[in-house]
Amino acid sequence: MSILVTGAAGYIGSHTCLELLNAGFDVVAFDNFSNSKMESLIRVEKLAARSLVFKQGDVRDRAFLQDLFSKHNITAVIHFAGHKAVGESIRTPLTYYDNNVSGSIALAEVMSEFSVKRLVFSSSATVYDAQNNLQIREDSLLRPINPYGRSKLMIEQIYQDLAASDTQWKIATLRYFNPVGAHESGMIGEDPNGIPNNLMPYISQVAVGRLSELSVFGSDYPTIDGTGVRDYIHVVDLALGHLAALQALKSCSGLITVNLGTGKGCSVLELIRAFEHATGRVIPYHIVERRPGDLATCYADPSLAESLLGWRAKFDINTMCQDAWRWQSKNPQGYGNVSNY
Ligand code: WQD
Repeated sequence: MSILVTGAAGYIGSHTCLELLNAGFDVVAFDNFSNSKMESLIRVEKLAARSLVFKQGDVRDRAFLQDLFSKHNITAVIHFAGHKAVGESIRTPLTYYDNNVSGSIALAEVMSEFSVKRLVFSSSATVYDAQNNLQIREDSLLRPINPYGRSKLMIEQIYQDLAASDTQWKIATLRYFNPVGAHESGMIGEDPNGIPNNLMPYISQVAVGRLSELSVFGSDYPTIDGTGVRDYIHVVDLALGHLAALQALKSCSGLITVNLGTGKGCSVLELIRAFEHATGRVIPYHIVERRPGDLATCYADPSLAESLLGWRAKFDINTMCQDAWRWQSKNPQGYGNVSNY
């Protein structure tokens, strides 16, 4: 019996494949490498000292999916495959709706065809109302403000209707806050294409000398020090949250929706200081204008994850920074140029 992982070679997908292998699951993985590299899964197999089945393919390709389901005894699916950059989604919305929404429909149709009806879906905190400056609960107002967030909410609603149409479906929708860090080995980690949009990989690339200085987007927010506050969660905590969701599907019915966050907010300046303290590196920065679309504060109420999944985040911000730095310092160019492994 195998777990199918879509988008398996990506940042969160690769970390989840490692935890699945470590937990004794058999894994069938695929990716179209639109934002990932095979090297991540080669290293996952080394770390786990176990192999997985990998096929290159696209989640929108029904024939590809049917071939996978016909050749492997897949019992559940963890669905990561999708584009995830907010700015890019504003520039190319059709690509985001086709890849994210059409791909999620194709996957569910083929799952249904093979009577595989256990699904863990990778959603995002960007489905929430951006003006919500309080600790965010799963029943907080939903009001995404960009095509990426809207694509995730559409998929959530499609899967909600699917679960309502057939009681055999068991679906867990996981809303991530801000994934950061890397596996403690430093062998796998976040490897964004081009200049990073997100804060932690940008800081890491400044620390390793790939980028010269961090621009802090705004210091006039109504927060502890004027800079944006977010709920940073260690990617291994996030991966383990998927295994907990898989386990919870055995006893749940229909669709459950759960935040995966720490419940703690951390400002940009606090993260810079934490990174410098954890790594001994100096992060030069300068304050610039706010980034359009950014909100002041976004952090989770993680209590439902604890009650429904029996899961809570374990790693603190210091560990997140140490693990992010170990990955970046061992792999200054990410997976691009094979580092010392
Ligand atoms: C965090 C804070 C910025 C970069 C995004 C996506 C979201 C999710 C996580 C997929 C903010 C500030 C950032 C920089 C900065 N991804 N910042 N300088 O925007 O909270 O969420 O990633 O699900 O969908 O929207 O994360 O890391 O971009 O920003 O000052 O160079 O860091 O203003 O306050 P964000 P982020």
